Amino acid sequence: MSERIIIFDTSLRDGEQALQASLSVKEKLQIALALERMNIDIMEVGFPISSPGDFNSVREISKVIKNTTICSLARCVDQDIDVAADAMSVLKDFRIHIFLGTSTLHISSKLKKSFDEIISMAVRSIKRAQRYTNDIEFSCEDAGRTPIDNLCKIVECAITAGATTINIPDTVGYTLPNQFGKIIKLLYQKVPNIDKAVISVHCHDDLGMAVGNSISAILFGARQIEGTMNGIGERAGNAALEEIIMAINLKKKELNVHTNIKTNEIYRTSKIISQICNMPISANKAIVGSNAFAHSSGIHQDGILKNRENYEIISPQVIGLKEVQLNLTSRSGRAAVKHRMKVMGYKENEYDINKLYTSFLKLADKKGQVFDYDLEALAFINNQEETPEFFQLEHFNIQSSSTGLAKASVTMICGKKILTKSSKTSNGPVNAIYKAINKISGYSMLLQKFQLLAKGKGKDALGQVDIIVEYKNRKFHGIGLATDIIESSAKAMIYVLNNIWRSNQVTLRLNKLS
Ligand code: KIV
Ligand code: ZN
Repeated sequence: MSERIIIFDTSLRDGEQALQASLSVKEKLQIALALERMNIDIMEVGFPISSPGDFNSVREISKVIKNTTICSLARCVDQDIDVAADAMSVLKDFRIHIFLGTSTLHISSKLKKSFDEIISMAVRSIKRAQRYTNDIEFSCEDAGRTPIDNLCKIVECAITAGATTINIPDTVGYTLPNQFGKIIKLLYQKVPNIDKAVISVHCHDDLGMAVGNSISAILFGARQIEGTMNGIGERAGNAALEEIIMAINLKKKELNVHTNIKTNEIYRTSKIISQICNMPISANKAIVGSNAFAHSSGIHQDGILKNRENYEIISPQVIGLKEVQLNLTSRSGRAAVKHRMKVMGYKENEYDINKLYTSFLKLADKKGQVFDYDLEALAFINNQEETPEFFQLEHFNIQSSSTGLAKASVTMICGKKILTKSSKTSNGPVNAIYKAINKISGYSMLLQKFQLLAKGKGKDALGQVDIIVEYKNRKFHGIGLATDIIESSAKAMIYVLNNIWRSNQVTLRLNKLS
C-alpha cells in the first residue's frame, strides 16, 4: 500500500537564515499562512534562541497556524530547548528539533568533543525536550560525512532516548544519490530500533543533488522530506519542495508513496515566498520557473497544439497556474474583480475586496486594462500594507531634468502627524525622494541595494522596486509596486520604515518584559 511522505518545510528557518535581510513577523506570517494553505505537514519557523526577533515571530506564528505542526530548532543546549518550548507554549502540540554535528570533522574541529560525549549530549537534550513535548526530532548534522557505524550508534541512542523523528542531513550537499540512498538503507539494516522513529532527510544542493538525494532516500525508506519552497536556503540552498512534491505526484506508482499536499497551491506559495524573500526564481527553474510551461520552438508549439502531452509532463493547472486573462477595465464592477480572484484560487477571506477594488480602480484608470497578475500583485501589496501602518505616503512632488539637480517634496502620515519635507540637491529623482523621506523618518539608514523589475507585460507593466537597507547593523527588505517607478521607490522605502518601526516596538516590548 502507498505510504505517506511527511513534508517538512524549513523555508522560515533554513531558508530565512540565508536571506540578505531578515523577514519581519508580518512577512513570516504571510509565508506561514501560504504553507498552511498548501497543507504542509510540519513547518520549522525559526531558531528562537538566536534572537529576540526570531523568538517573537515563532510565538506569533504559533498563535495563528492551526492545521500544520509548528517546529522550532535548538542546539543540544538546555537553554535553547527551554526557549524553543517557551516560544511555542501557546500550542498544545509542537515539535522541538534538536541538532548536533556527528561527522568526525564537526566533532573534532567544531565541537571539540569525543564521540561518546556527543552521544551523551544528544541523549541528555532529547530527555530535556521530553519535559515539553513527545514530538522530538533529532538531526545528525553532517550525517552525509559521518562514518556509518557512528551514525548507526547515535541514531539508536537518540531513538532509545525518545526521539520520534531522526533526521539525516546532507548538510554540505556532498553525497551522490546512490551514496545517500545507501546511508538510509544501512540505517534500516543496522539500527535495531529504527522502526520506532520516522526517518527524515534534509539535503542541501551544493552539487545540485538535493532533490535527487531526497528521492533516492525515499526509495530506501525515508518517510519525511525536509526542504524549502523554491529551494531557498544556506549557500546553494535546500531541496526544492515543489520539485519533490511533483516528482512524488507524477511517480506515485514507481515510488509507492504519496503526499497530502494541495499541489494547486504550489505556484501561489512559490510566488509569495519569492516576492517576500526577494529571491527571484530563474526562468528555467523546474515546476515554478516562468518558462517551465512555455513552449518556444516551432516544432514544440506544433506538438503542443496537437496534444499537450507531446511536450508537457505536468498540466500547469495541477500546480495552480491559471491562464492569464485580460478582461477588467475601470468599468468592471466589484463582482468581476471577485470572480477573477476566485478563478485564480483566492478565497474571499484571503483579501479585502473593498481595498482591492479601490486600488484596482486607481490602477485601471492609469493602465486601462487590468490583468490577473496585476490583481494578484495588488492583493499581495494590500495585504502587506494592512492598516494601521505607522508611516504612510500621502503625496509627493518631483522635479527632475537632464540639466539640473533633482528636487523632491514628500508628505507623509507618521502615526498621528502629517509631515512634509523636501530635498533640493540630488543627482536623480529616486535619490531626491529618498532624502526627503529620510528627513521625515529621522532613521539613519544606508541604502545597500536597489532593484527595479517590470511586473506584468509590455508598456502596461507595473514597476516593482525591491530595496535592501541597513539600519543599526540589521538589513531590511522593502518592496513597492505602482505604475510610476518613483512612487514604487517611495513605497519600498516606506515599507522598510514600517518594518524598522515595528521591530523597534518589539525590542521596546521585550526590554520592558526583561
Ligand atoms: O543542514 C543542516 O544540517 C541543518 C540542520 C540544522 C538540520 O540545517
Ligand atoms: Zn540545512
